[in-house]
Amino acid sequence: MKKYLWIVSILLCLFPEPTVSECSKTYFKNESTDSGNFECVNGGCWIQIDPSPTKGIYLNLQGKGNKLFMYMTTSGKQKQEFLQKESERTDERYYLADVGQGFLIKWNKSCYSNTDAPHYIFNREILDPYYCGPHLRYIGNEVVTVQKENRAKSQFSCRYHMVPFDSNRSSETIYVISGTSNTFDVFDGNNERYKITGQIVSRDYWKYVDFEKQYSGTRWQGADLEYIYAITTKRSCVCQDEPVEVSNGQVIHIQSPGFPDFMCPSSKCEKRVTFSKYNGSDEYIQRALVTLEARAKTGTNFSLVSTIFDVRFDNDIYSTVFTNFLLEPVDMKVEHSTQLNLYHGPEGHFNMTIRSIQIRKDCACSLFKQKKYDKQEHKIKIKIPAHCELIFCDWTIASGGKKEMTVKIDNGKENDEVHIWNQNSMEKYNSTQLKQPRKLYLTTSSDTHVSFRRNTSGVLQQNFPSLVTVSWITASDTMCYKQSNVSLTTTPQAFISSNYPLPYNFFGTCQTLLVAPDNHYIKLNVSDIDVENIHDHVSFYDGNNTSSEFLLEQLTGTHQALTLSSNDNMMTINFYSDSSHGRRGYHFVAFAVAKPTPKSTEVAMPTMEETSSDKLGKPTQIIDHLQSNDSFVDPFWLIESKNATTSGTDNLQSSGSKHGFFFYLFYTFCVVFITIGTLFGGFALYKNLYPKKPETSFANEMVRFRNDDTGSVVTIENRC
Ligand SMILES: *[C@@H]1O[C@H](CO)[C@@H](O)[C@H](O)[C@H]1NC(C)=O
Ligand SMILES: *[C@@H]1O[C@H](CO)[C@@H](O)[C@H](O)[C@H]1NC(C)=O
Ligand SMILES: *[C@@H]1O[C@H](CO)[C@@H](O)[C@H](O)[C@H]1NC(C)=O
Ligand SMILES: *[C@@H]1O[C@H](CO)[C@@H](O)[C@H](O)[C@H]1NC(C)=O
Ligand SMILES: *[C@@H]1O[C@H](CO)[C@@H](O)[C@H](O)[C@H]1NC(C)=O
Ligand SMILES: *[C@@H]1O[C@H](CO)[C@@H](O)[C@H](O)[C@H]1NC(C)=O
Ligand SMILES: *[C@@H]1O[C@H](CO)[C@@H](O)[C@H](O)[C@H]1NC(C)=O
Ligand SMILES: *[C@@H]1O[C@H](CO)[C@@H](O)[C@H](O)[C@H]1NC(C)=O
Ligand SMILES: *[C@@H]1O[C@H](CO)[C@@H](O)[C@H](O)[C@H]1NC(C)=O
Ligand SMILES: *[C@@H]1O[C@H](CO)[C@@H](O)[C@H](O)[C@H]1NC(C)=O
Ligand SMILES: *[C@@H]1O[C@H](CO)[C@@H](O)[C@H](O)[C@H]1NC(C)=O
Ligand SMILES: *[C@@H]1O[C@H](CO)[C@@H](O)[C@H](O)[C@H]1NC(C)=O
Repeated sequence: MKKYLWIVSILLCLFPEPTVSECSKTYFKNESTDSGNFECVNGGCWIQIDPSPTKGIYLNLQGKGNKLFMYMTTSGKQKQEFLQKESERTDERYYLADVGQGFLIKWNKSCYSNTDAPHYIFNREILDPYYCGPHLRYIGNEVVTVQKENRAKSQFSCRYHMVPFDSNRSSETIYVISGTSNTFDVFDGNNERYKITGQIVSRDYWKYVDFEKQYSGTRWQGADLEYIYAITTKRSCVCQDEPVEVSNGQVIHIQSPGFPDFMCPSSKCEKRVTFSKYNGSDEYIQRALVTLEARAKTGTNFSLVSTIFDVRFDNDIYSTVFTNFLLEPVDMKVEHSTQLNLYHGPEGHFNMTIRSIQIRKDCACSLFKQKKYDKQEHKIKIKIPAHCELIFCDWTIASGGKKEMTVKIDNGKENDEVHIWNQNSMEKYNSTQLKQPRKLYLTTSSDTHVSFRRNTSGVLQQNFPSLVTVSWITASDTMCYKQSNVSLTTTPQAFISSNYPLPYNFFGTCQTLLVAPDNHYIKLNVSDIDVENIHDHVSFYDGNNTSSEFLLEQLTGTHQALTLSSNDNMMTINFYSDSSHGRRGYHFVAFAVAKPTPKSTEVAMPTMEETSSDKLGKPTQIIDHLQSNDSFVDPFWLIESKNATTSGTDNLQSSGSKHGFFFYLFYTFCVVFITIGTLFGGFALYKNLYPKKPETSFANEMVRFRNDDTGSVVTIENRC
């Protein structure tokens, strides 16, 4: 074979019009090592080393004063990558090809030259032991690790040639970051070369980037290889930092740099926002409405800062947030900062709008972060007057302990929403969902934000007030109960799976037996079921027997808005999980319904038997003390009456609290008396008394608000 080649070569030299240079050689992927000299043949001579699917190639070229045309090939990609800069070299050098990459080296030289022929040695090896990364790197929209952080004990140089993953990306911007300041040769679309030095190197319309560095580690003291990461993006990292004045009714948009999916490294943006002087009517006040959509990422912060508030968002506070809230319309800064990192994804970004809106003075509720509750157990009841078309209320519930929260709106309007969010969850409930009590666990070391928002503008709605109730109690455990019995009344009660709405995490079955009073049956509304399809399921049985003939429904996957009924006063719910892939779990609402009997007299009053109450544990009674130094604008002075005027609201507010103290005492006594006296029927009694309460004067109205807002109400909560 070799002899034959020689003969061909000689023949070719004799006949000076060669079409193929026969000196050339291809190494297949199964040939793991070889070395040799290039041969001098007119028309050129080449060596091809095919890519291997499992190994890299370590190549040593000794140019001996000759230029060699360098190409790299990639299996799967038809394109050869011409290494222009490497082709200019004449010295000795090393290259590393990645798995799936190969070489093509041409020597294009007239044979009469008297220099030595270049020499090559190659070796296929598993890449791990090499300090440098492979020479050719295709850079796309995901972060590429060009060089790993490492400590090496010899002298060597690493070099990289970075090219766009596909040619379309040449209009993008490359970002290369490294552990220490380094110099990169960046070539743009016009093949203009820039030497850029720094920890962050970036260039738009880039074509390729070259890097070469000599590392000299001694045997005793190794050389530190710094990390090098690269990515290309079509996003812009320019800060939107021109100050803006928001005029009345106007909206401005602010997004994080690199929005929506490129995290700009070490970026720091600051935008100043000011508000035009409010020129509207006296009945209204101006507010800054912030609409926010954001996802957290470690090391990325943003905040809204003014002299009176500092609203900071980092991953200790939220993970995902999709909400809106009100702030004072004062001069503020929107700041955003990131770390020296490259990241592709929606995390770490925000999309914010700030809008100057006007709110009726008598519909002003607590602003974002203005009202914070430190109590472990509490109930907030807020009456939303019918005339408040636009209202935003915010409450912060301090972290600490596990809590079980229940939210409900009576007489809600169509677009009402409640948002609940903290470090690990973001829940949004609409008015349809809040017709029934909505329950969830708060298991977080961060504060929880609860907000109520209403915008009925333009839509004609019923003309009666709504009542928003937010209550929470300590949850000793958010895990599943192997077996629990719960007594039901005609008042709907919510049941949730362990950890809801965070993913449940247990193996086995959690069983809940619901028991309604005699002569009642049970109605159950499934609001939300989200369990691992097929593997996990929720089963509903008619009665206390869980054999299959009593199975009403077995649900797996996701379901919403289902209704189930029992025949008699018992229903059993089994929730089975195989312990992997936990999801939200379930939320359902159950209540007792009196069976239609000829002599139906006492339907309204649920009969709660002492025995069943004993089983379900202690009712929780909370009587809080009046907070005397409440300095915030509180919703307690919201007025139900349409006839109320806004003039002197502040006076009324303070006089209201003075009178309120006596009412409060009286009221508290009444409540304690009722609670102790009737102990178990207390809640129902209270509920019955509630609507009958005479609502005579404005002052009384306020007193009631204050009482309600400070939580001097009896709470009876059942746990499932
Ligand atoms: C390598 O594979 C080629 C075909 O792909 C075969 O012709 C050759 O004999 C193989 N060589 C060795 C050393 O296995
Ligand atoms: C090799 O050299 C000849 C003449 O020097 C030139 O015409 C030819 O284009 C070169 N080939 C390559 C691949 O550059
Ligand atoms: C590149 O551009 C071509 C034509 O403009 C288009 O067909 C192709 O989908 C693009 N490729 C990528 C990865 O965007
Ligand atoms: C208030 O200012 C806005 C914009 O600055 C303007 O459009 C509007 O007409 C003004 N209203 C009054 C009552 O002056
Ligand atoms: C984020 O905020 C925290 C606390 O305010 C600060 O310590 C940290 O340096 C910030 N991170 C960035 C990237 O600015
Ligand atoms: C950003 O938020 C605004 C208002 O919430 C919305 O209209 C817009 O579509 C959002 N932009 C993107 C790109 O999500
Ligand atoms: C309320 O939310 C539920 C569940 O997400 C949805 O099915 C329903 O359509 C919503 N109702 C309204 C009025 O938006
Ligand atoms: C209230 O709803 C109306 C109608 O949908 C809308 O035009 C307006 O922007 C909303 N206002 C606020 C403050 O969200
Ligand atoms: C629940 O009730 C069932 C039957 O009514 C009874 O067998 C069981 O012991 C009760 N379990 C508890 C924990 O009270
Ligand atoms: C239960 O669901 C049905 C049908 O979805 C609905 O009509 C009923 O009002 C719900 N019950 C309660 C207490 O919300
Ligand atoms: C179911 O309830 C009935 C009536 O309360 C009781 O007699 C029976 O023992 C219970 N069965 C089970 C399995 O708990
Ligand atoms: C408002 O006042 C009028 C007359 O003063 C009275 O008839 C009406 O009932 C009042 N409305 C309310 C909601 O109190």
